[in-house]
Amino acid sequence: MAGVFLAMMPTSSSVPGPTRGAAALTDGVDAPVPASDTPAALVTLADLEADPHPALARLQAAAPVSWVPALGAWLVTGYDLAVEVLRDARTYTVDDPRFSTAKVVGPSMLSLDGAQHARHRGPFNRVFRRDGVHTRLASFTRAETGRLVSAIEPRGAAELRRTVAGPLAVAVMAEALGLGRADPIRVLAWYDGIVAAVQAAAAAAQPVGTAGTAAFSELAASLREVIAVPGSASVLSDATGPLTEVEVISNAAVMMFGGIETTEGMIANALLHLLSSPAQLELVLAERGLVPAAIEESLRLEPAAAVVDRYATRDAWLGGASVRAGDQVTVSITGANRDPAVFAEPDLFDVRRPNAGRHLAFAHGPHFCLGAHLARLEAEVAIGTLLSRLPRLRLDRRYPSAPRGLVFRKPPDLRVRWTGRPLRVDAPRPGNLDHTANTGGGAMSEQDDFAERFHRDRREHAGASQRLDDDQLARLTEEERVAAGLDAYDPDEVPPATDTPPQPEDITQTEEWQEERAELLREADKGEIRPVDERHPFPPTRYE
Ligand code: HEM
Repeated sequence: MAGVFLAMMPTSSSVPGPTRGAAALTDGVDAPVPASDTPAALVTLADLEADPHPALARLQAAAPVSWVPALGAWLVTGYDLAVEVLRDARTYTVDDPRFSTAKVVGPSMLSLDGAQHARHRGPFNRVFRRDGVHTRLASFTRAETGRLVSAIEPRGAAELRRTVAGPLAVAVMAEALGLGRADPIRVLAWYDGIVAAVQAAAAAAQPVGTAGTAAFSELAASLREVIAVPGSASVLSDATGPLTEVEVISNAAVMMFGGIETTEGMIANALLHLLSSPAQLELVLAERGLVPAAIEESLRLEPAAAVVDRYATRDAWLGGASVRAGDQVTVSITGANRDPAVFAEPDLFDVRRPNAGRHLAFAHGPHFCLGAHLARLEAEVAIGTLLSRLPRLRLDRRYPSAPRGLVFRKPPDLRVRWTGRPLRVDAPRPGNLDHTANTGGGAMSEQDDFAERFHRDRREHAGASQRLDDDQLARLTEEERVAAGLDAYDPDEVPPATDTPPQPEDITQTEEWQEERAELLREADKGEIRPVDERHPFPPTRYE
């Protein structure tokens, strides 16, 4: 199991946590390792990675918590028990030496519980509230989304994870932390370096490698510069005081992990759900106010972070299972979010589902996702902008787009098409359709360049297949498309080239943007900011 867990989540070591052959219990008595034909014994990591939903439904029907040998952990799939575990940090803690993130970035809110957790998280609660993120980051998020969409708009086809969702998540996180001037590729390289180190530490229970240490040191040096500037706009600015500089940096690193891959997945999954469900898409297109509800429903149906791990601090009964001190207890957010006792017809994507907001995609209890409002803002802006600016946006059926992943779930590729107006650019020679080659004759814009480098630099895509990429597809002439074995030219799919490129919209000049900004400023002036009850700093989700 280890090694597949990415940095942000509590991570198990390669030696399964529990030291015994625990098993689901009946009548409160220790049972032997489950019989080989039970759903728990049959579930495999491959099932959980590819399409976990049928296996989780079988597990849930048998028991809300079961010992899963493939995971070396108790797997909680029932909603009520998931909430129980996530609320009870005294019994089910993240503070365990098996949690490898702390080995790389040091102790942070993600790896601590109790008073220490409150001390690490407290200084950030206010800036991450809804009003806080909207005041600080809404206009940046809109402008950046506008820029990213402008770069692809003329092409008529794109892979949206690497051209919009991923770069947006990186840019917003860099801006939030005050690293706005840093090259996004450097930010991503730090992220990748630290994630790789955490994975290696988890997989082999080894000390952190030098590459991971170097990546973290570079990030730390840049953050130190940000912290040194008094009154900076960074979300870190209020934290020095209650926390030491080292602690602020550890928590900033955790925010970066939390804010990149998950948000990219959240946006990609929501787009996938909408574009695969024509009737639901129609509802949203007719009533744009449904975008936030569609995002909540998508978070329920396919949470970008599928599981979180806890470690039992004492022997405990959990839904009829006898958990022993030291056992790993993994909460399947994916499973809980489809518990039929809470969500009727749980496999359906229904943007009008009345209780979608009860999903656990951002966890629950003391570790409720700090960045939930920021992630929602990014997703709402990204999806709203894409639906508004790319007419007849639809999945490119030639490429599969099902979500995958054991911990972080998202489609490996999200290729779409729309009725756009591609720029006239020199076409590549049909024989030179290499995935990584820069075949375009036209000069690459800065944005193209970023998307290209982003794509290339993602470690996980190092071995990506040699398919045509978006630039190449958009640049092909009709004859070349046919010669390359692609579908015949359809004037509706890729309209004729034009010499007049559309002008990117300056979103800050739109009436809507100006009005919204004025409204936010008025609210801030009047002090209409929802009070925070420090004893209950985790607000219920919006649709409860
Ligand atoms: C701007 C984006 C985001 C930021 C800055 C962020 C940051 C964080 C931080 C700092 C924590 C630790 C909170 C604590 O331990 O007290 C956290 C927890 C968590 N986040 Fe986020 N996050 C973001 C987006 C997301 C998204 C999109 C998802 C999933 C859809 C997600 C899922 C979670 C979950 C499940 C936890 C709980 C982990 C646990 O309980 O072990 N986050 N997030």
